[in-house]
Amino acid sequence: MKDIILTGDRPTGNLHLGHYVGSVLNRVNIQNQGSYDKFYIMIADTQALTDNADRVDKVKNNIIQVAIDYISAGIDPNKVNIFIQSMVSELHEFTTYFLNLVTLSRVQRNPTIKEEIKTRGFEKSLPMGFLAYPISQAADILAFGTTIVPVGDDQLPMIEQAREIVSSFNYTYSPTEEVFQMPKPFLATDKVCRRLPGLDGKLKMSKSYGNAIYLCDSPDVVRQKVMSAYTDPNHIRVSDPGQVEGNIVFTYLDAFCKDEHFARYLPEYENLDSLKSHYKKGGLGDVKIKKFLIEILEELLAPIRARRASCLENIDGIYNMLFENSYKASLQAKERLERMKDAMGINYKKLLK
Ligand code: TRP
Repeated sequence: MKDIILTGDRPTGNLHLGHYVGSVLNRVNIQNQGSYDKFYIMIADTQALTDNADRVDKVKNNIIQVAIDYISAGIDPNKVNIFIQSMVSELHEFTTYFLNLVTLSRVQRNPTIKEEIKTRGFEKSLPMGFLAYPISQAADILAFGTTIVPVGDDQLPMIEQAREIVSSFNYTYSPTEEVFQMPKPFLATDKVCRRLPGLDGKLKMSKSYGNAIYLCDSPDVVRQKVMSAYTDPNHIRVSDPGQVEGNIVFTYLDAFCKDEHFARYLPEYENLDSLKSHYKKGGLGDVKIKKFLIEILEELLAPIRARRASCLENIDGIYNMLFENSYKASLQAKERLERMKDAMGINYKKLLK
């Protein structure tokens, strides 16, 4: 049986390089291999509202931004169903019944939720919808019979939660035919790519930390950001020996640089190892490695920017694509919703003789 793939992002801002190497690139590769039955990418606006209830405009405006980012990054809407979460209302029904299968203490142990509560200052006043979003995310995954969820590693606890709901559903209702598939995560293979740190050296590149390079940043902005990136604070003069670990420029080179880039931009070095050993010895300045990184990022970002420019000419077309796809996704989810209700014994029309 072929896989059903589903993943998504909250539309709270443009996608950045962390999204790109951690997840989007993975999706483009899966799409291009083409060995799946269905592939959905959800723009998770309902989830975004769980901590943006009073910022509807921000969420609304970012739906199209994220769709454009996907298409610019190489997602082909003819091969992948890109849809809007709130336009698939069946998902709310799944969520309602799943909420009964999960305890409060279980959700409170979710490490991603714990961290997010802290970063949002929600310790004192926590919206119920926010706390419950892992259950709603389980609905996103399970409603489509998803077998594979390509995500960054911060989403692993969400997939674990979805798997527990499958077990709990089966235990509670003993369906005679399988209703939900066990979903599995699919992570970027490269460790650096799984959690790309921010320009400031913080553990994670994130919009909320203001330490991100966006797929839509102009060449000038990319240049400025890389020039300000955190390197080794003790590497003051070019002749000083420098540290490579924790040095963001080298971390990004680990993520983005290939041997062929040396031939093109720094032919005096054979590969990244030789560049690193020169830096460690001393005699290699930050400006040189930063300029090299800028060339590499530009090679990646220039075609993405070009595709973005053509998307901007066709905004209505993209909205129509999203609406049609949401309708199709809704039909798919409805089928499984009926099967779920049958298994639970709450399809009351079946009581008619
Ligand atoms: N939680 C994900 C994020 O913050 C977005 C998301 C919502 C998602 N539903 C999903 C991811 C289902 C994978 C599968 O980016």
